[in-house]
Amino acid sequence: MLCAKYRDFLRWNIYQIYPRSFMDANGDGIGDLRGILSRLDYLKDLGINAIWLCPCYLSPNDDNGYDISDYREIMPEVGTMEDMDRLIAALHERDMKLIMDLVPNHTSTQHAWFQTSRQGRDNPYSDFYYWSDTVPNTWQSVFRGSAWAFDDVRGQYYLHSFALTQADLNWENPAVVRAMQDIVDFWVDKGVDGFRIDVIDMISKDMAAGKNGLGPRLHEYIRALFGREKTAHLFTVGESGVQDLEEMLRHCAAERNELSTLFLFDHLDVGRKDKFTPKPDTLLSLRDRLLRWQRESEANDVLHALFTDNHDNSPLLSRIADDGEKRYESATLLAAMVYLLKGVPFIYQGQEIGMTAAHYDSISDFDDIETHNAYREFCAEMTPEEALEKINFGSRDNARHPMAWDGSATAGFTSGTPWLALHSRFRDINVQADLASEKSVYRFYQALLSLRASAPAFLDGTLTVLSRPEDPFFVFTRSAEDTCDAVVCNFEEPREITLPFPCACPVLSNHKRTTLHGLYPAYGCAVARVHA
Ligand code: GLC
Ligand code: CA
Repeated sequence: MLCAKYRDFLRWNIYQIYPRSFMDANGDGIGDLRGILSRLDYLKDLGINAIWLCPCYLSPNDDNGYDISDYREIMPEVGTMEDMDRLIAALHERDMKLIMDLVPNHTSTQHAWFQTSRQGRDNPYSDFYYWSDTVPNTWQSVFRGSAWAFDDVRGQYYLHSFALTQADLNWENPAVVRAMQDIVDFWVDKGVDGFRIDVIDMISKDMAAGKNGLGPRLHEYIRALFGREKTAHLFTVGESGVQDLEEMLRHCAAERNELSTLFLFDHLDVGRKDKFTPKPDTLLSLRDRLLRWQRESEANDVLHALFTDNHDNSPLLSRIADDGEKRYESATLLAAMVYLLKGVPFIYQGQEIGMTAAHYDSISDFDDIETHNAYREFCAEMTPEEALEKINFGSRDNARHPMAWDGSATAGFTSGTPWLALHSRFRDINVQADLASEKSVYRFYQALLSLRASAPAFLDGTLTVLSRPEDPFFVFTRSAEDTCDAVVCNFEEPREITLPFPCACPVLSNHKRTTLHGLYPAYGCAVARVHA
């Protein structure tokens, strides 16, 4: 059984906001904190009770805020510290939580630490980063090219696992650990309720084994951040490259006082060979990947993070289901398949209206640094048209277009000029149109989240899978002390599904039906109370 603290976290319905692209309040074309404030009631109505904000700290924005130049300041594009204080208060007034994004692996090269560090080898910040006279290994940056760059000022190479301007912090230096603890404490004192921790596994390197991450001191560092009295109440979710059970347990077994949960990514690889290359796939493979971690988490009393989308990936909907004619059915089916399992739900902005991947004819419609680096590389190997096709498929900008609030010229996002091209389908897919439609994805999510809140089985209840591995559909029950609820998720083709027990009339479905038994349309799903 999950510990009491984690059982409580199961009630958090978390919504991820990409601040630049959520809502612009002052007309400069960039989303901001006051914009978020103006939409809290929209989120509350959806059933959201916690938000995760992607980084809003001071930053030159080479990687949209993941390159931080001051962890204690708010970037002027999104607002001021007063706006942040107001947002925290407004959230708490509504009984909502705030999760901040902590980036401990690297800072911007504009950060005062780096600016001092590069001055020489004998100042207090000299050893805050990895410096070397020669290129010590062949590590590659996640954004392409060598992970080592020469700095003219210091006359040495520094490590950057991401962009040139994101220098990796040297956690071997105890002063770095202390500095990051102070930053966590600063935000805890402001009242934040939790952290999402960026590439947490990379903070400990294993230079000897040539591994940029999952190094020997990783767990010591995580405990230094979050295993303290001051941080014991926090909800923490780490972004991780973890793939095996043992390592997962080392991160989030409750008694270790490290992280509450982890984002595990293997299910996001359905429908793609790599980030920029599609692969034919079916919902079966999504189901199998989801179930693997459901079983592991259940057997080991670990809190699981349920998600399909984030700011680094194009929407799963477009990769694995029908984002055309059956868009509503596909979006709602995915929601039922994922968010009625056991774990803490994370919903990415736009998912609640069934937003899809976008499509553009020109590379100039893209902004993301990873996208531009990849495009340059692709162009050396293929025609620009082929390269653009790959970019349209895999670009992170697919998830970063301004939120489409309505079908007007600027999508209701801003009164000015949006910082990034509006989504290519915003005239059809937007909040206003969704709410006016009989097939509203928002209302389905709303009903689903209210079901989670009212039926105890969907929180802590036992998961039993009734369909067989080879069935092209997914049927499961969640049962608590004296209730049992069944979920039927049909996949790509219409078919008859019969269950071995009588059920009440469905409490949730994405098509009209009065019983769980019988014919399901493609992507049909339904949920009902089961009578023993
Ligand atoms: C994480 C973030 C991503 C960012 C990278 C570097 O993967 O989710 O957006 O670019 O870390 O901080
Ligand atoms: Ca703005």
